[in-house]
Amino acid sequence: MRHITVNAEHQYKVHIGERFEGILNDVSQSHAKIFVLSTQYIVDTYHLEQFLHPLENSTLFIVPDGEGQKDISVLEKIWQAMGEAGLTRSDALIAIGGGATTDLGGFAAATWLRGITWYAIPTTLAAMVDASVGGKTGINSHVGKNLIGSFHSPTGVHIDLRFLNTLSDRDFSAGLAEVIKVGFIRDASLLEILQNQNTVEAARGVAEELIFRSITVKADVVSADFQESKLREILNYGHTFGHAIEKFSHYDIRHGEAVSIGLVFAAELSVKLLGLKEEVVDLHRSLLQQFALPIKTNVAFAPLLELMRSDKKARGASLRFIGLNSIGNPHWLEDVSTDVLAATYERMSI
Ligand code: GLY
Repeated sequence: MRHITVNAEHQYKVHIGERFEGILNDVSQSHAKIFVLSTQYIVDTYHLEQFLHPLENSTLFIVPDGEGQKDISVLEKIWQAMGEAGLTRSDALIAIGGGATTDLGGFAAATWLRGITWYAIPTTLAAMVDASVGGKTGINSHVGKNLIGSFHSPTGVHIDLRFLNTLSDRDFSAGLAEVIKVGFIRDASLLEILQNQNTVEAARGVAEELIFRSITVKADVVSADFQESKLREILNYGHTFGHAIEKFSHYDIRHGEAVSIGLVFAAELSVKLLGLKEEVVDLHRSLLQQFALPIKTNVAFAPLLELMRSDKKARGASLRFIGLNSIGNPHWLEDVSTDVLAATYERMSI
């Protein structure tokens, strides 16, 4: 078992290689009541009720699958159920699922009684390496993705690698997009490891190492800049364009797939504005394609620009991007002109 310490808001640990049933037991012993959020798929596949049944102080709440669960109507039902369960300040919430469930569960914990303890048990690669660590919690609304939320760190993140066994190759690859992002912004050893894995199957064989190294970077970054005043923005490499693609598809494509296209866009933008070497852009394309991730889009540029502009409202006055000077050396780009963005889109589409 491996552990990584995060020092953000309070100190907590990410534990890699645990068994989720042991965690449920431990958390139920240290709190009067536990409120467990998960999806029907996880409940059925991992016989969650069988493990929760002996824990008389537990309440299970089933959330819908996918990004759609991050909705005020679902949150309202959770608050209702928390009230009915009589959840007090000394009780805890456990979110077991992908990034949408840990975002939603963390936000339910942040808002109940002005903040109760919560634990994340991520079940997808994307949630393990990114969403569950760092304390960003929230829901979506008709105004945009993640605009309603709170920084509310978990008390523990517990990674049971067995969940990866039932993850589809498509979902595993989507998680790899975030790993590749971390490789380009901070830890090139991740890129080297992945270059040596020719297939998704081979990458699954090194999952623990990829998770450990990716979380080590994330823990360092959020420990230095928990509330994203500057440094934490490097984790958004590929995300400005990626979010636009994701929104355009109405969340029909995976977050990681949208980020994959966004990474190529950010790399091409870096060639134009920062003199990033072409070979680094080629490395983006070859690595992403190696794991069947998309590297371009058929969506017209105009609606994507519009969506990026609406996203910027959440980020301040200018359209901001994270670019790369070189591998491991990110750069903040502000006020990028529409002409440069359009030219970058053209290059990306070739
Ligand atoms: N997903 C990026 C962050 O947590 O800051």
